[in-house]
Amino acid sequence: MSCVNVEHLSKSYGSVIAVNDISMSIKKGQVFGFLGPNGAGKSTTIKLLTTLIQPSSGNLSILGINAIKNPLKVRHKIGAVLQQPSFEPTLSVEKSLEKYGMMWNVPKTERKIRMEKLLRDFELVEIRKKRNEDLSIGQRRRVQVAREFMHEMDLLFLDEPTVGLDPSARRNLLDYLKKKVKTGLTIFFTTHILTEAEYLCDEIAIIDQGKIIAVDTPEALKKRFGNKKTIKIHLLKNQEDIISLLSGIPDCTIDFSSGTNITIHSEQSEVVLMKVLRILNENGKEIDDLSAVPTNLEEIFLKMVSENVSNH
Ligand SMILES: Nc1ncnc2c1ncn2[C@@H]1O[C@H](COP(=O)(O)OP(=O)(O)O)[C@@H](O)[C@H]1O
Ligand SMILES: [Mg+2]
Repeated sequence: MSCVNVEHLSKSYGSVIAVNDISMSIKKGQVFGFLGPNGAGKSTTIKLLTTLIQPSSGNLSILGINAIKNPLKVRHKIGAVLQQPSFEPTLSVEKSLEKYGMMWNVPKTERKIRMEKLLRDFELVEIRKKRNEDLSIGQRRRVQVAREFMHEMDLLFLDEPTVGLDPSARRNLLDYLKKKVKTGLTIFFTTHILTEAEYLCDEIAIIDQGKIIAVDTPEALKKRFGNKKTIKIHLLKNQEDIISLLSGIPDCTIDFSSGTNITIHSEQSEVVLMKVLRILNENGKEIDDLSAVPTNLEEIFLKMVSENVSNH
């Protein structure tokens, strides 16, 4: 069953098309990752899906509810952690959780139990009496995410929740979310960090300039581009003439990031590599180091985004 269904959704701000005709469907009980560079339209999409803003056009159904006609009904059933920090400066960490629980009408005893558990799960016990204004950005972010788990929900939206977290807090949060998904929660999560999406998500949509340019499982995305290999060659000396020597080789793209580094992407990596080596040898170019590795998701992502830019 799909719990988010988006059809031809668009949002413009004046002449800026922040979200441009996106369609997608998110299955219950999975983590759906929205991956894209800054300005791609991630936050605008989350604001649309959480009914904080109205679309310019398109249809949106959340948990079976028409979200454009019944935004309040949707808001009662979902959780949302947006990008903007939201906190009351003088409230302590524990009071922030407590107050949020009250807002959601969680009964007192249950509120206390949840609060204590969240303080432990999000490593906030030591700072529970600290005021929000005295916390670091990462600590505030942790409070902001922890707070959302004070209430029950079927669907949670998180807009770049790991920004400002150190690596251990980041991993801790991702593992916490994984655990919650196992209990039936569905998560829509945005990030510009690919390794994060790969670690957490069952499905990833890559968004750029307001458009979804690919949707698939991390494995399928890799498989789709899996034949591609990246060959890296490091030359001993700066060799400007190498560019013209190698640029005639077919079935590959070659980047010369500097006079000594050459990066080659190809689906026929063995054949291409043989040709490169022969040319280098024939011209007396000495190689310092050479490696051929499967193209990773990060490179696929960067390549898709840059190709999308050049198509516009
Ligand atoms: N309230 C707004 N008014 C005008 N332009 C906006 C507004 N919000 C976002 N934009 C523009 O829409 C585009 C997408 O922004 P956003 O959704 O915040 O991207 P992301 O979250 O992926 O970084 C950007 O070009 C941004 O400048
Ligand atoms: Mg954003």
